[in-house]
Amino acid sequence: MKTYILKIGGSSVTEKDANEREARADDIRGIAKEIKNAKKKAGFRLIVVHGAGPFGHKLVKDYGINDGVRGVRDIEGFVRTHNSMEDLNKVFMDVFREVGLLGFPIQPSACIVQDNRRITSFDTGIIDRLLEMSNDIIPILYGDMVIDESLGASVVSGDAIVPYLARKLKVDKVLMGTDVDGIFSADPKTNPDAKLIETIGPGNLSTVLEKVSEAVTVDVTQGMKGKIMKIAESLQGIEVLIFNIKKKGNTENALRDLKVKGTRIMLP
Ligand SMILES: Nc1ncnc2c1ncn2[C@@H]1O[C@H](COP(=O)(O)OP(=O)(O)OP(=O)(O)O)[C@@H](O)[C@H]1O
Ligand SMILES: [Mg+2]
Repeated sequence: MKTYILKIGGSSVTEKDANEREARADDIRGIAKEIKNAKKKAGFRLIVVHGAGPFGHKLVKDYGINDGVRGVRDIEGFVRTHNSMEDLNKVFMDVFREVGLLGFPIQPSACIVQDNRRITSFDTGIIDRLLEMSNDIIPILYGDMVIDESLGASVVSGDAIVPYLARKLKVDKVLMGTDVDGIFSADPKTNPDAKLIETIGPGNLSTVLEKVSEAVTVDVTQGMKGKIMKIAESLQGIEVLIFNIKKKGNTENALRDLKVKGTRIMLP
């Protein structure tokens, strides 16, 4: 049975543009129903990783803890950011349960350690066991703040968790849902003439990276640019699709291997 990872971008299920700590449960429900439908029609195992939107990025910025956690107030910020991500995760858990999916939350802060913002240890044994126990269990992870050997604590983005897990668990496909149709020649939110880049491979990776800017919204993990850099760094040999998860049908079609508009990345 094939194993897929689906990243649900924080941008697509929160008020990221308005920078408000609010989850759009209806949008999460729509995605959960599409997962349910796809599971009925095609057999696959699934791991979900959701992003943070303002539930993470806003707190990290307000507390000023993207460069390390040292004093009393930083420590409060670290704990509050984790608490806040659990608030968002709870919305996912409730909606998945409502729809009849067996979502199983995994706290990144309890199984990941970083050094200078890079994952140095990640105990994925439990995730493996859950998937072995049943094809219907969907481990759900999220961007979080975790212990960091050099910085006290640091942000681990969903975009970093996805490639790490994909490589370690040798998954068959990675789907990254966000709030735009893929990677464009410029930020499509501010450039109406921006063109969709349909494929990224070794030949055009560096030119694409030059064109892609950080997100216009508050994103402490460098938005779209950070996403591509993480993929390029550690996702060799696994097909990645960046697509618009806000468009109805896209999630189901992507999970069923049907055609979906987006950017395909394949690096040897
Ligand atoms: N060249 C580009 N192509 C596509 N999007 C771009 C580009 N440059 C900047 N962006 C911006 O990147 C944003 C997506 O990145 P962002 O990190 O905000 O989303 P996300 O990863 O889905 O959310 P989160 O980080 O909360 O999980 C888009 O909304 C878009 O405005
Ligand atoms: Mg992001």
